[in-house]
Amino acid sequence: MPKTVRKTDILRREIRKARKQGETIGLVPTMGSLHAGHLALVEACRRRCDLVVVSVFVNPRQFGPDEDLARYPRDLRRDRRLLEKHGCDIVFAPDAREIYPRGFKTFVGVEGLRDTLCGRLRPGHFDGVTLVVLKLLLALLPDVAFFGEKDYQQLVVVRQMVRDLGFPVEIEGVPLVRDKDGLALSSRSVYLSPEERAIATSLFKSLEMARLLIAGGERRARTVEERTVTLLVDSGVTKVDYAAVVDPSSLEQVKYIDSDVRILVAAWVGATRLIDNIAIDAESIGRKRQASRRGTVAVIMAAGEGKRMKSDLPKVMHKIGGKPMVAQVIDAARQAGVKDIIVVAGDRSQKVMPLLKRLGVEVVRQDVQRGTGHAVLQSYPLLARFGGNVMVLSGDTPLIRGGSIERVLSTHKKHSNTITFITTEVPDATGYGRIVRDKNDNFTRIVEEKDADPGIKAIKEINAGLYCFKAEPLFDALLGIKADNVQMEYYLTDVIETMKSRGGRVEALRMADHTEMLGVNNVKDLEVVREIYARRKKDEDSKRRLENGIHRKRRRR
Ligand code: PAF
Repeated sequence: MPKTVRKTDILRREIRKARKQGETIGLVPTMGSLHAGHLALVEACRRRCDLVVVSVFVNPRQFGPDEDLARYPRDLRRDRRLLEKHGCDIVFAPDAREIYPRGFKTFVGVEGLRDTLCGRLRPGHFDGVTLVVLKLLLALLPDVAFFGEKDYQQLVVVRQMVRDLGFPVEIEGVPLVRDKDGLALSSRSVYLSPEERAIATSLFKSLEMARLLIAGGERRARTVEERTVTLLVDSGVTKVDYAAVVDPSSLEQVKYIDSDVRILVAAWVGATRLIDNIAIDAESIGRKRQASRRGTVAVIMAAGEGKRMKSDLPKVMHKIGGKPMVAQVIDAARQAGVKDIIVVAGDRSQKVMPLLKRLGVEVVRQDVQRGTGHAVLQSYPLLARFGGNVMVLSGDTPLIRGGSIERVLSTHKKHSNTITFITTEVPDATGYGRIVRDKNDNFTRIVEEKDADPGIKAIKEINAGLYCFKAEPLFDALLGIKADNVQMEYYLTDVIETMKSRGGRVEALRMADHTEMLGVNNVKDLEVVREIYARRKKDEDSKRRLENGIHRKRRRR
């Protein structure tokens, strides 16, 4: 267990001992209730310093009168256990009197920076932070102190104070840590109910959307801020305090995005205030140049990890008929006359890249898997100003025929549809979204299995997952799409609803041969698809032979 020290003079004795042995001292200031974000700070400290000191002190001076000081989570025993596992040497856990002795009168504040963004809404907060941080720095005189980028304004404020005072300490910022659902880890997330937590993930999503907007060419900071706020409000946050595109070192709001910026958001979900931020680097802003495109672009989703394939090979690289699945789908798109192709690759994209390069397609990355809507959204930087059609195909449905893609595309154009998508009847529709049509056989809606009553469950027609969209309404819908589930995944089926409610023309086109849309998710699927492919090839070959025979006979006549 790390040594727990409650008094400053004892702490100083420990530090003196370490110094005598030539050790470097690192400080990680915390308010306890530790999570993986704090532990990343401790690990960063462990990597650089010989003596790792973590302070645990819920600092009353940084809480406003109506804030959550009384209910702020505290559990020193749990914190110490966690710290032990992560290589902490000393836990400094003073009480309030130790830090603020009776008669304490001093203020420390960083002009300007303390009054902007969170400081404007939490008067006195940053003065409380700088005061306690200065006291901790004075107690230890560490070589390095570690602060999370999650509290980005705090990091900037502390850096400024240290610089102004000439304090001989290095301040290291450590990237924030997110939960699987994208939520930036925070001690305050324990306040959230499951429903609130789902809404809270929209902070991250709004930042991701802002990044995509900028990557797509948007340079007006005000527009990015407004769209970020709209997404937060639409996702159900209780109140947005701010969304700001700022200079990363001065925190001044920028008007035009032409160099590195940081985007910061603060919003309330119920009674919990949450903050989040994201860095946008100038290089990535400048790099994405959009090709001038016309007609139809195919976006092929190929990022699936394929864990159930029990292989190191990315799923779409498994072969059907001697060719990787994704190459089969690319071939089908080209047969349909779609030459402009973007493949959405996953985090193991390096294993697919040589093939994709050879096949001459563009590639975008989807580093985290958040559903089909999220996958397609990754192509936005390349399609932001594209006014044509976007054909969405799955890289793991290798049996799709060029003819079927062509049929969707020509119907889409002929009927001036906003969306045309393929449906098919399957013997067992369990688990799929069912297609509901009106008495004129027109598409009405998709009902997911979980929402289906027995009547709907009896429907055998399902969404086959092949779509053609008008690009502009597609990306408008995707950039504003709500993720109202805890995983924060968003799907193209939700876009259908949105586009329909906005007056878009949606047509669901039946495909007779359901095997064309069979997806490969595991080894068994792969076998089934290979068998069908082999049978199909055999049939096609014998048909060809037969036709050739007839032709030859005709020619002889
Ligand atoms: O980030 C925190 O947990 C606190 O603001 C800090 C830096 C420990 C000061 O109380």
